[in-house]
Amino acid sequence: MKIQEKQLEFKGSGENTMSKRLSGRKIAKNIYADIKENIELKKITPKLVILLIGNDPAAEYYVQNLEKKGSKIGIEVETRILDVSIDQQSLLEKIDTLNNDAQVNAIMLQKPLPSHLDESEIVMKIDSNKDVDAFHPLNMGNLVLDKEGFIPATPAAVLELLTHNEIETNGKHIVIVGRSDIVGKPLANLLLRKSDTGNATVTVCHSRTKDLAFHTKQADILIAAIGKPLFIKSDMVSDKAIVIDVGVNQIEDAEKDYRYVGDVDYEVCFEKVSAITPVPGGIGTITTAMLLNNVLIAYKMQNKN
Ligand SMILES: NC(=O)c1ccc[n+]([C@@H]2O[C@H](COP(=O)([O-])OP(=O)(O)OC[C@H]3O[C@@H](n4cnc5c(N)ncnc54)[C@H](OP(=O)(O)O)[C@@H]3O)[C@@H](O)[C@H]2O)c1
Repeated sequence: MKIQEKQLEFKGSGENTMSKRLSGRKIAKNIYADIKENIELKKITPKLVILLIGNDPAAEYYVQNLEKKGSKIGIEVETRILDVSIDQQSLLEKIDTLNNDAQVNAIMLQKPLPSHLDESEIVMKIDSNKDVDAFHPLNMGNLVLDKEGFIPATPAAVLELLTHNEIETNGKHIVIVGRSDIVGKPLANLLLRKSDTGNATVTVCHSRTKDLAFHTKQADILIAAIGKPLFIKSDMVSDKAIVIDVGVNQIEDAEKDYRYVGDVDYEVCFEKVSAITPVPGGIGTITTAMLLNNVLIAYKMQNKN
């Protein structure tokens, strides 16, 4: 069986009838429970090392969350904080050491990287068998060619949400807004696959798309991965649409200092559409679980287990 198929076979998959609010919390809980059970059964301790350069607050938050979740399910997550002034060669050497360490099953380079570093050379350096973010061109290429390899956590989270809620993609028109390497591009390719979560007709929009609303209104399933708070309004969606909001944006809040919202204006779209993911509590919640699932997959690949 291919890794990609295994990645989506959680016990909770498909057990729910769809509700209008497509929460990610129960899905994530099922994934964590499955990973934990697997780890306990096999008496293993997969290990992820995260390289965190500098002190970006959002990156620190994500990493701390991975450490916390990992420790609950039996995955060792070690964060190595590197000085923001680290040079290219020293970083490449650190990655080389991790590549050659059999105790380390997975390596993650937390972004954003300082601008003096050459990101593409660094990504290429990470052993593709430990590349749980699936940024290495080999993993990207395998994904496009429908061959064995890691699937990036956020696109995998979207597929898991579709599977869990039994949302049909076959023959559906899926419009993705955003063409980034970590969300839009891999997701479009996954949805095009000849598979249970594929066979869709996919339109990918971006900042140069003319008359964006014309396209988004055509969508049976609309996926927003833009990075602009509350950008998609109700006049940009049809009433039959299922809306999946990948965006996570921090905005000012009168009561608290700040709060997180998606790329979709949930409040104004909720009444109109047929179903919609919340932010927070939607795709982001599942993404963390899928990343840790990739760590387990990496362990199994390396240990033929
Ligand atoms: N939930 C999760 O687990 C998760 C994971 C990753 C990212 N995210 C969130 O998802 C969002 C997108 O992240 P990303 O890394 O994919 O962002 P990104 O690399 O900045 O890409 C944003 C994409 O949106 C497009 N775009 C920007 N403004 C637009 C506009 N006015 N109309 C149409 N398209 C527009 C850009 O077009 P161009 O290509 O033409 O510039 C680009 O393709 C962010 O909010 C991020 O925080 C969430």
